[in-house]
Formats: sequence, C-alpha cells, structure tokens
Amino acid sequence: MKILLFGKNGQVGWELQRSLAPLGELTALDRAGADGLCGDLSDLDGLATTVRAVQPQVIVNAAAYTAVDKAESEPELAHRINAEAPAVLAREAQACGALLVHYSTDYVFDGSGDQPWAEGAPTGPLSVYGVTKLAGEQAIVQSGCAHLILRTSWVYAARGGNFAKTMLRLAQERERLTVIDDQWGAPTGAELIADVTAHAIAQTRQQPGKAGIYHLAPAGETTWHAYAKYVIAQASQAQPAIKIKATEIAPIPTSTYPTSARRPHNSRLNTHKLQTAFGLHLPPWQDGVRRMLAEIL
Ligand SMILES: NC(=O)c1ccc[n+]([C@@H]2O[C@H](COP(=O)([O-])OP(=O)(O)OC[C@H]3O[C@@H](n4cnc5c(N)ncnc54)[C@H](OP(=O)(O)O)[C@@H]3O)[C@@H](O)[C@H]2O)c1
Repeated sequence: MKILLFGKNGQVGWELQRSLAPLGELTALDRAGADGLCGDLSDLDGLATTVRAVQPQVIVNAAAYTAVDKAESEPELAHRINAEAPAVLAREAQACGALLVHYSTDYVFDGSGDQPWAEGAPTGPLSVYGVTKLAGEQAIVQSGCAHLILRTSWVYAARGGNFAKTMLRLAQERERLTVIDDQWGAPTGAELIADVTAHAIAQTRQQPGKAGIYHLAPAGETTWHAYAKYVIAQASQAQPAIKIKATEIAPIPTSTYPTSARRPHNSRLNTHKLQTAFGLHLPPWQDGVRRMLAEIL
C-alpha cells in the first residue's frame, strides 16, 4: 500500500511518520517537497500533480494553516491551505480511488453549552481559522471521496513549542501566572492522534463503511488553568531541581485576555462514535501529558 503524507514536520505529521510506517510504503512531504513532488498546500496545481505521480492508496493531510490569531488578518491564505487544498486532495483521491485522511478541529463549533459535541451537532465557527477548517471538511465530504475526517482539540507534542512548555517556562520566570479558566476541552497528544489514525486507516481499508467524520480526544476534560496547574505540579514532582518561582497561578476569564480570534468556551468532544466504530479505548488526558513531560524534562 502506498501512503502519501503532507505536513510531515508538524506536531501530528511528525508522529504520523512513525505510526504510518508499518502500514505501507510512505512518501512523507513537508512544505519544501522532495524528489520533484510538491508538498506546499498553497500550490494547488502542484498538489494535484503530486497525487497523480504517486498514485497512493491513502493520502494523509496533516498540514494546515494553524496560526489561529494570524488567520484573522490572512483569511485568503488560510482559506487556500485549509479549504482549497483539501478540496484538491479530495478530488484527486476520488479520481485515483484513495482514502483521504484529514484533521479538523473543535473550532468548527460555537462553543456554547457544556455538553461534549457529537459529530452531527450544528457547526458555527467563531474565527476565520474555524470557518476555513469547516470549509475544508465540507469540500471533502461533497467530493464523494472515501474519507476519514478526525476532529481533535488542544494538540500538544514533545517536539516543538506547546502550551505546557510555555507554562513551565513562565512558572520559572514569574511569581504570578494568570491562565484562562472558562474554556473547557481536552489536551490531545499528537502521539495518540497518530496511533488512532493508523488503526482507523487499517480498519477502514478492510471495511470502507467505516469512513466518515469522527471526534478524537482523550478521556476527561479540563480548562487551560487546571491544565497549567497540572503541568507545573507534575513537573516539579518529577524534577525537584526545577525552581518554580510562581507561587500563584490565578484563574482569569477569557474576557480579560483579548485575542484577535474568538475561541469557543466549550471544546469538549464526544468520542463515542470513534471508540465504537474502531473498538478503541481513549486514555485520560493526564496520561499523555505526563508522558510528554517525562520526555521533555
Ligand atoms: N494544534 C492544535 O491545537 C489543533 C487543534 C485541533 C485541530 N488541529 C488540526 O490538527 C492538524 C495538525 O495540526 P498540528 O497541531 O500538527 O499543526 P502544526 O504543528 O502547526 O503543523 C502544521 C504543519 O502544516 C504545515 N504547513 C503550513 N502551511 C503549509 C503549506 N502551505 N504547505 C505545506 N505545509 C504547510 C506547517 O509547516 P511549517 O512548519 O513549514 O509552517 C506544519 O508543519 C491540523 O489540521 C490542525 O488544523 C490542531
């Protein structure tokens, strides 16, 4: 089986290079491309030519415009990468009979209420990023290609920058931290996303009826504030040599921390469909965060 992966160096893309390798012959591209193949999602013709050249059985798109605030001032570029590029990949997947795996986000929802969102719940993105990610989903579904769209939330990885690392650094530099406590969700490890993706691909290749949209996040829920407190407590327990200066980690409402893009208050995702369809168990979010901390400390 030939697998074509876009975005190989992002948080999820990096882990996919590991988890997809045993499934088949993997061609993994970053923005720069390789061997005459185009990996730049803003080059729509280049993408189409690349799919036709590789003739994969599975296309995995881990590349995206993920700068949520910057997207507010670059809506056209965000739309090209998050909506038009997936549309091209979907068209080409349909033409060569490939399964297209794509990632989306809790930001397609408006964040109202306090119940976990199910896949069929009404969407209502609050930001340019959310609008473009939703448009990407819709283009894939409308193309008629076989697809797995995995909506996830609050992604972190040991590699690259992330919220946990930023909180750890700030806790060593400042005596007081303030962190938002009215946005709810689950921090999702890129490792978990990549492993679930590999299982889902293997099963969907055997049973094409499993294609569709799924929510993917670990078990449990938290706020950014409780997440920050957990990270700092775990880090100081695991590495007593770390000098935590912050004696106070104060909760603040989103309203006191203005950003260009609006973010949903309720990012909880209901993962029942994924667990049932693929027979998977999703561990508590703390497990992956502890593992990531053990790797970076
Ligand atoms: N991060 C989150 O919290 C989060 C939450 C929910 C859903 N998601 C979704 O999960 C998926 C994976 O996200 P992630 O966290 O792994 O994101 P990430 O770490 O920001 O990685 C995104 C990758 O896309 C690449 N990229 C950006 N523009 C590109 C272009 N024009 N051509 C080719 N590659 C391009 C980036 O490359 P450069 O490094 O060269 O820019 C980067 O490697 C995305 O679909 C995202 O929307 C993420």
